[in-house]
Amino acid sequence: MNITEVETKEELARAAADLIAAQIKEKPDSVLGLATGSTPLETYALLAKLCAEGKLDFSRVRTFNLDEYAGLDGSDPHSYTYFMNENLFSKINIKKENVHIPNGAAADLALECENYDKLIEKNGGIDLQLLGLGYDGHIGFNEPGDGFIKKTHTVTLDRSTIDANSRFFAGADEVPKTALTMGIKPIMNAKKILLIISGADKKEMLQKALYGPVTPRVPASVLQRHKDLTVIYTNEGSLILKGR
Ligand code: GLP
Repeated sequence: MNITEVETKEELARAAADLIAAQIKEKPDSVLGLATGSTPLETYALLAKLCAEGKLDFSRVRTFNLDEYAGLDGSDPHSYTYFMNENLFSKINIKKENVHIPNGAAADLALECENYDKLIEKNGGIDLQLLGLGYDGHIGFNEPGDGFIKKTHTVTLDRSTIDANSRFFAGADEVPKTALTMGIKPIMNAKKILLIISGADKKEMLQKALYGPVTPRVPASVLQRHKDLTVIYTNEGSLILKGR
């Protein structure tokens, strides 16, 4: 585990963008696993800037997003598809056919999940997976539960996730109750994982995820078992990790 503590969100974004850019330069047809949420926003802006300046080429890059709300079409401004288009894909020279996000509006969600796993495998798995951390310890939308769910699947969102994500909607009632998420297997099979965390309110969960017992009750704790995990976090609110 390689852990870097930075002072500000800007430094976090810079460090994350540098790592992603290095991955693309080393392997121009990299398969990136991408995340949504507030944390990667500045990272995506920096990657878009590098691309606009001609310093980074996404023309051969392939991407797989972690998750999508069930029932939302990609044209819905609340969907993660829309979020990714707005914040990254429309600003870089990536080919549409190389972008993959689970289709939350698919008629058969189980089949959509099955096909998503197959497509990841067909593309040789993920080279670099970017992750954020949910307040309840989720990665993607893998919520706390009795076991790690390996395959991409539909999930009922926890109350705390619905509340946390309600900031993007008119209110908690508007947040879809179910979602599609990449399972633990394709995430853990990624050759490299980059976990980024910002905010003092994530301190306790980050501590548990990195140094607590590995348990499906804290889905991110499974990352302790990954052999190439990089963690970058801001130390706002004196976020001091014990156990380093
Ligand atoms: C969301 C997403 C996750 C994301 C996490 C953290 O629910 N499904 O993929 O990593 O929550 O979001 P944020 O960065 O906004 O705290």
